[in-house]
Amino acid sequence: MTALSTDAPIGVFDSGVGGLSVLRAIRAALPMEDLLYVADSGYAPYGDRDAEFIADRATTITELLLDAGVKAIVVACNTATVVAIEKLRAWCPVPVVAMEPAIKPAAQTTKSGVIGVLATSRTLASPSVARLCAAYGKDIAILLQPCPGLVEQVEKAQLHSDVTRELLVGYLSPLLLAGADTIVLGCTHYPFLAPLIREIVGPDLAIIDPATAVAKELARRLQGNLLPVSAERAAEVSFFSSTAAEPASMIISALWGSRVLVQDVSQLGYRAQRLGLISTGF
Ligand code: DGL
Repeated sequence: MTALSTDAPIGVFDSGVGGLSVLRAIRAALPMEDLLYVADSGYAPYGDRDAEFIADRATTITELLLDAGVKAIVVACNTATVVAIEKLRAWCPVPVVAMEPAIKPAAQTTKSGVIGVLATSRTLASPSVARLCAAYGKDIAILLQPCPGLVEQVEKAQLHSDVTRELLVGYLSPLLLAGADTIVLGCTHYPFLAPLIREIVGPDLAIIDPATAVAKELARRLQGNLLPVSAERAAEVSFFSSTAAEPASMIISALWGSRVLVQDVSQLGYRAQRLGLISTGF
């Protein structure tokens, strides 16, 4: 790899569009940094894939982002994190920041002593979540609620549809009945459903989205590696997807809140070529 420039972009990826909830927190915290976002929507949801497949996708996307010259990577996907983060960190030459369901802050702030964690089945069944529950669940009840179907709804930008509401009511009702006062959003797709979740659970429950904490951690890691951008300038956010560019542009624009042009992920390879970072096409 070529030497890292402080003006190099930061790469962010997810199984799909969910990581945009992390990207917007990064954009707010680090407005001068160029960002490359990869939505692996052609392969979403990861939750239904086996671990080897998810680890392979995480490796492929990380390699593409490295070829495009990124100075840091954010794995904006809880599922990819629990499956692949150790392997990824073992070889990746730039700082890698990843997700973790916010069980610790929820456990520290609950008053009722009951918290609910919404995430994919794969995330909830992982050793990482078992470790968090063992560490912070001694004096409280941690209810793990898998939410099949929600990622698919967000991938279609169906944030308020009847189907989405029905799914959410089904997943949230047992948590409410059990007395949960705190809901952890343990999948990066779910913050897009926060307004509907709020409607269902009412005004008093705490809903915890770890995106801001992840953006803070990224800023800290950049400082630690002396890699923050060197000067004030207009930063760019570029979007790439492994699904057809036109529908991806519509969905990502809807979730991002402004019209953006999404490129095919193969363009990341061409981008790297243009910059002279790799010699072969993708
Ligand atoms: N956004 C991903 C996460 O945080 C969704 C995983 C999936 O595609 O199943 O876990």
